[in-house]
Amino acid sequence: AFAQNNETGSKKVVTIAHRGASGHAPENTMAAFQKAFEMKADYIEIDVQLSKDGEMVIIHDTTLDRTTNGTGSVGDYTLEELKQLDAGSWFSEEYAGEKIPTFEEVIDAFRGKIGILIELKSPELYPGVEEKVADALRERNMDKPKNNKIIIQSFNHESVQTSKALLPTVPHGVLAGMSWADVTDEELAEFAAYADYFNPNMNLLTPELVDRIHAAGMEIWPYTVRTQEQADHLFELGVDGIITDFPEYVYDHPVKNG
Ligand code: G3P
Ligand code: CA
Repeated sequence: AFAQNNETGSKKVVTIAHRGASGHAPENTMAAFQKAFEMKADYIEIDVQLSKDGEMVIIHDTTLDRTTNGTGSVGDYTLEELKQLDAGSWFSEEYAGEKIPTFEEVIDAFRGKIGILIELKSPELYPGVEEKVADALRERNMDKPKNNKIIIQSFNHESVQTSKALLPTVPHGVLAGMSWADVTDEELAEFAAYADYFNPNMNLLTPELVDRIHAAGMEIWPYTVRTQEQADHLFELGVDGIITDFPEYVYDHPVKNG
C-alpha cells in the first residue's frame, strides 16, 4: 500500500530496516534508526516491550544480556534503571553510550521522516502494552489513515487483534515463524480479516504460498535478509517488502509483476 513508484510506474519492493540498519549500527538504538534514515530505507522496524514501571522501551530480547551491559529481564527494571545501561558497546566501541530508546523518543524523532513498523515483542509478558502503544499514537494523531506509514505487527496474533480493535485505521501485520509453513487458505482468510500484512520467516516462502497470501489480500514482507543472495531470491518470489539488517541489498528493486 505504501510502495513507491519509479519512472516506469512499477511498484518497488519496500525496504524495512530490521531493528534499524542493524548490520551497520547497534540494533534498536537511535544510531541504527538514524543510519536507516540516512540510507533511505522506507521503514524502520522496532521491538516494543515494557519496563517494570510500565514505560515502552525499544529492545529485542526479553533479557538485557546480549545487547547491553545489564543482566536479567527487561521487565524487572524501571525506565530510569534501563537508561543507565550502555546499548552500543557490545556492537562496537564507536557506539559506546548508546541508550535503550523509549517508544515515544523514537516516534517523536522519526515520524514523518521514515515509516515505522512497530513489533509488539512478547506482549503476553506485558499486559496492556497494546493500549499504551495506541494511546501514544492517538495523542500524536498518528492513528489516522493514509500515508502515516505506521504498521503494527506481532508473532502473538491475539495481540494483533487487540491492537487492531483499538486502532482500526492503522494497518496491522501477522508475523509467522516456521510453525506456519503449512498455513491453510482458511487460516490466511482469518488473518486477512484484521491484517494487511503477512510477514513470514523468509524460509517459509514458496511461489505457491506467495500466490495464496496475495490471493487472500495481504502483502508479504518476509524477514530477515542478511545477504544479497537472500534478497535476490525473495525478489524472484515476488514479495512486496523485505525486512533486512542491510537496506542497501533491497532498495530501488521493482516488485516482480508489480
Ligand atoms: O520484523 C520481523 C522480525 O523482526 C521478527 O523477528 O526476532 O527479529 O523480532 P525478530
Ligand atoms: Ca522484530
